[in-house]
Amino acid sequence: MSATDKILVIGSSGQIGTELTEKLQEIHGTGSVIASDLKKAANHQGVFEELDVLDEKKLGEIVAKYKVTQVYLLAALLSATSEKNSQFAWKLNMGSLFNVLDLAKEKKIKKVYWPSSIAVFGPSTPQENVPQFTVMDPTTVYGISKLAGERWCEYYFLKHGVDVRSLRYPGLISYKSPPGGGTTDYAVDIFYQALEKGTFECFLSENTTLPMMYMPDAIRATVELMQADAQNIKIRSSYNVGAISFSPKEIATAIQKHIPKFSIRYNPDFRQKIADSWPNSIDDSAARKDWNWSAKYDLQEMVKDMLQNLPKPAVNHK
Ligand code: NAD
Ligand code: SER
Repeated sequence: MSATDKILVIGSSGQIGTELTEKLQEIHGTGSVIASDLKKAANHQGVFEELDVLDEKKLGEIVAKYKVTQVYLLAALLSATSEKNSQFAWKLNMGSLFNVLDLAKEKKIKKVYWPSSIAVFGPSTPQENVPQFTVMDPTTVYGISKLAGERWCEYYFLKHGVDVRSLRYPGLISYKSPPGGGTTDYAVDIFYQALEKGTFECFLSENTTLPMMYMPDAIRATVELMQADAQNIKIRSSYNVGAISFSPKEIATAIQKHIPKFSIRYNPDFRQKIADSWPNSIDDSAARKDWNWSAKYDLQEMVKDMLQNLPKPAVNHK
């Protein structure tokens, strides 16, 4: 990290972007972080540029205007939304990545962060403790775009020396900004419904276990990866990162410890099939070895923290 780093966050108004932008402002100074998205988030403080990342010209102009050195590319369509609009998902998820990687190839920026996902795995991938290198046969548009993206990241590193870094995030749980159309979104919504209504209808079945992570761990993983010495980053496709694995039934039980009357019903929809194609848990030993990754939050701590931080409803369901 250098004192002259200028950071561009693309997709800054989303679930991750909102919190990552704040953390990067803390680290680099508010004036050194340029947030950008189709629309500014209501509570955003600091520099903001309206940007459609598919507008290559405007992206280049913003990079030149602020002398940007690092780009965090978070704009994408997530798994459930991508299934409903597959052509556009492919266009956005791949087009945005090429626009940013090409800027790095042309030496206009020095470092790129781009997130991948557990969606790169598929039905033939081992279900438990998925190794870093394994069978990958994603059956969703989103997963196919993430797997292709990983291969392009590694290609740009090998052929063009681009310093691109990536994490395969599990489902992310947070309270500051709502999730944007994923299969793991139920694990956020459940908290809002538990507090507001005392009951929740889940779109996944009770024993659907998925890898998940609390947002503070995800933000820390991102920052630690980007701050690591380049020579320690041995994987330029994307790192497995693990934290917690739980099913809807298990998170409901953890919430019931705080809200005893909370009840859950199961009504699986099209997202069940997506979830069934993803693994249960992740082996992140490569990330642990290369840049000392270790998650801090377990299920109980995450649930306690979420319930403490979410706004309290007028009616008490406890
Ligand atoms: P999100 O949907 O909450 O946010 C994405 C943001 O990108 C939105 O604010 C949206 O307005 C913006 N955006 C969309 N199209 C754009 C465009 N053309 N130009 C500029 N901005 C545009 O998503 P998120 O959860 O914050 O995810 C960010 C990244 O992390 C994505 O690549 C996603 O695939 C990945 N990821 C997220 C999770 C998760 O659980 N949240 C898990 C794995 C990977
Ligand atoms: N949380 C994301 C989704 O469900 C996984 O990448 O789409």
